[in-house]
Amino acid sequence: MNKNEAKKKIEKLREEINLHNYKYYVENNPVISDYEFDQLLKKLEKLESNFPELITPESPTQRVGEQPSEGFETVEHKVPMLSLANTYTYDELREFDERVKKHVSDVEYVVEPKIDGAGVALLYENSVLVRGATRGDGIRGDDITQNLKTIRSIPLRLRNNTLKNIEVRGEVYMSIDGFKKYNKEQAKKGGVVFANTRNATAGSLRQLDSRIVAERPLDIFIYFISYSDKDLKTHEKTLEALKEAGFRTNPLTKKVSDIEEAIKYCGELEKQREKLDYEIDGAVIKVNSLEKQKELGSTSKNPRWAISYKFAAKQSTTLLNDIAIQVGRTGTLTPVAILEPVEVGGVTVSRATLHNFDELKRKDIRIGDQVLVERSGDVIPQVVKSIIDKRTGTEKRKSIPKKCPVCGTAVVREEGEVAVRCPNKYCPARLKWRVRYYASRDAMDIDHLGESTIDKLIGEGLIDNIADLYFLKKEDVLKLEGFKEKSAQNLLDSIEKSKKQDLSRFIYGLGIRHVGKYAAQLLASKYNSIDELANASEEELKEIDGLGGKTAGAIATFFATDENTKLIEKLKDIGVKTKEIRKKNLPLQGKKFVFTGGLTTFSRPDASDLIKKKGGIVASSVSKDISYVVVGDKPGSKFGKAKKLGLVTISEEEFKELVAK
Ligand code: IVH
Repeated sequence: MNKNEAKKKIEKLREEINLHNYKYYVENNPVISDYEFDQLLKKLEKLESNFPELITPESPTQRVGEQPSEGFETVEHKVPMLSLANTYTYDELREFDERVKKHVSDVEYVVEPKIDGAGVALLYENSVLVRGATRGDGIRGDDITQNLKTIRSIPLRLRNNTLKNIEVRGEVYMSIDGFKKYNKEQAKKGGVVFANTRNATAGSLRQLDSRIVAERPLDIFIYFISYSDKDLKTHEKTLEALKEAGFRTNPLTKKVSDIEEAIKYCGELEKQREKLDYEIDGAVIKVNSLEKQKELGSTSKNPRWAISYKFAAKQSTTLLNDIAIQVGRTGTLTPVAILEPVEVGGVTVSRATLHNFDELKRKDIRIGDQVLVERSGDVIPQVVKSIIDKRTGTEKRKSIPKKCPVCGTAVVREEGEVAVRCPNKYCPARLKWRVRYYASRDAMDIDHLGESTIDKLIGEGLIDNIADLYFLKKEDVLKLEGFKEKSAQNLLDSIEKSKKQDLSRFIYGLGIRHVGKYAAQLLASKYNSIDELANASEEELKEIDGLGGKTAGAIATFFATDENTKLIEKLKDIGVKTKEIRKKNLPLQGKKFVFTGGLTTFSRPDASDLIKKKGGIVASSVSKDISYVVVGDKPGSKFGKAKKLGLVTISEEEFKELVAK
């Protein structure tokens, strides 16, 4: 192939890849599979490696840099990046409207969510992304082009030739789900945990190595064109043009005809806040006509044509009364902040996580401090920091306990490990977690057996292990504080009822490491009894499609432990069902299902039970071996992924027909 031919091929491939990238990351509507996409990318890489002189910075192969940069260059924004004036009440929004109407008439507004991330500016010349920068002081920011290129929904080349030379503004953010996973990993490793998605985003964008940035779950919404050589009439049209050009815009944006309607929509957005997979801290109200925006102009700091309406803060300060130590299911000691109760974004908070002792030390949080507490997404409240200025000198540090606070056994900390653990397998704290796990909704689903009841049962010495639950007598329960005839009977009935739960729930309830709901179902569909499972070799378990080597090892270890096999024997003796005589060839035998979106005629647990009864399995995430993806109302990202993998998707109606067979 000569250079000319290669050039043509390369250009065609890039166009194709950009299209599929757009379909996947912006429209959430892929038309080819992951595999096919990778093949296209590989083809391009190969051609480019044969003709390296044809590599251009906007090629889809250039999203992640090969080396860390030494630092960021400071660059001047084409147009200063202003910030928005804040309001906190609807009356302040009405005042804003009055101010606007003093200068212009017939005003329409556009209301959109205020994304809580990091504002950035992207510069395109001749349709190619040439620079991406942080806000900085509004006049100058850092050039973080290489980091921003790793965000797949940022087009490296604009589509459709409608916009060519522009500077756009948008907000980079980390999804709440991604943030939770990231923090969990970090806490385990003893790395820096972020207080919220905003800090996580800003921290990620500051990385010098774009390979690290590429692994962080970042995305972007674009909401503004700050400079353009094309004449647009309204903000609404601007957003449409942005979308046309390949940018991801926020779907909750709405045009309204007056301020009262804007206020109403602000209220609706605030209600939706908890359901979104990204943080929003308010709404932004913008004058729709760009001509009117121009007439209104800006002060030195803020535009006069837009304002932000801030939702109730998810941060508050309060007194840290104590640092308690919680002992987890595996014996890990975790420091927990005991707070003077305080309202944080509409919820009263009295406990907050401090993650681990390294984190506590790093943040130098002391008992008696005034602390800043934050709820981010549906994450457990966290202590962000201490307010140092408020210290009086009487605050006390909390050191790592030498002994387990529950059983008094000396704690251990392995060399290089973050976790401080109680090594006592029989520690009541661990027992409590095991019982909670066994009784939980997804396991044996034992009603009336909540945390405080478990505490009391252990405290009174009535249970030493899970099997003891089944030996409880009414007079035992009646001795516990708060129990009367009826409530005692209810508890005993629920415990009795649990004897008949499915094998998959029983396996899950045993709390074997790495065995989640899905793995438990896989195992229950393969083995007819707990004994069969216990006798399976690690090699055999490894062969089970979808299980993985780590899980197989953990199962083998579990059944090789005397204490566990003894427990199972006991449970069998008392009559807990550990066998399932299944008819072979059930209609959905071995079929794997995933749900996305809401169902209207079933609850998810009911629908799952139906599937299991017919021999099927319910998974929580999409992978290539899923047989059916049931698509309900407002499906999430699983739908896009399913289509991308070319899986069979069915509606709720079709699902009903399938399980009716
Ligand atoms: S418009 C000239 N729209 O909030 C107006 N900003 O305090 C440019 N932000 O710096 C801003 N979501 O980083 C606009 N839908 C949205 C936004 C938004 C988040 C951020 C942005 C801005 C800050 C203003």
